[in-house]
Amino acid sequence: MHVGIIMDGNGRWATKRGLARLIGHKRGATQVKKIVKCCPGFGVDTLTLYAFSTENWKRAAHEVEGLMKLFRGYLSNNLVELHEKNVCVRFLGDPSPLSADILKLMENLRTLTAHNTGLNLNVAINYGGRDELVRATKAMASKVSSGEIALEEIDEDSFAAHLDTKGQNDPDLIIRTAGEMRLSNFMTWQSAYSEFAFIKESWPDFTPQVFDAVLQNFHNRTRQFGAVVAR
Ligand code: FPP
Repeated sequence: MHVGIIMDGNGRWATKRGLARLIGHKRGATQVKKIVKCCPGFGVDTLTLYAFSTENWKRAAHEVEGLMKLFRGYLSNNLVELHEKNVCVRFLGDPSPLSADILKLMENLRTLTAHNTGLNLNVAINYGGRDELVRATKAMASKVSSGEIALEEIDEDSFAAHLDTKGQNDPDLIIRTAGEMRLSNFMTWQSAYSEFAFIKESWPDFTPQVFDAVLQNFHNRTRQFGAVVAR
């Protein structure tokens, strides 16, 4: 099962407690560790986390820098444990605007864990669904213009193979915390047949128990994928 999570509400969680927004993000990073750990036991083989969107650069400079610092910390402090736990880490999004040291940490983690089979963890950083579609379209267009592929070879499967998620199943379930009911540019192509769970808890309050309850609810749903099924 592939689960995508839009980790929302860190800022509100902190503000409600009279704390700086960055404290909410810090607590959010702690939740990431807990949720990653419980995935294999919950039957989740792929987890995609929306960590930073293409739109998040519009936030105050100190918040963006604070988030980058958290990513640095997560990528370097968890390298050994993620590898020991057999997690295969991949990154979704356009890495080009990220700083050189973060790119290096991402590459280290990606190569070290590339052959792990316990859990696929996709971390979306500078990710936007529309941006991903534009990048895939450009990549295919350039192959058509160089003659590497024929126009007729473009279909859903070949297009999907040019997305950041190439080779992976689409998310079965997308969870968004903190009450908002929108996708905010997350997995625009891949979410075509996903189920959705919009839950009131903020990301810092998203415990393994809350995750388990959301998954139980998902398992009680009947998915039709456009067909008619007997009920
Ligand atoms: C949305 O909450 C959250 C983010 C933009 C950042 C998510 C980042 C983390 C959970 C930290 C670390 C992640 C990893 C992978 C180590 P918000 O700030 O928009 O909340 P608000 O809507 O209440 O303001």
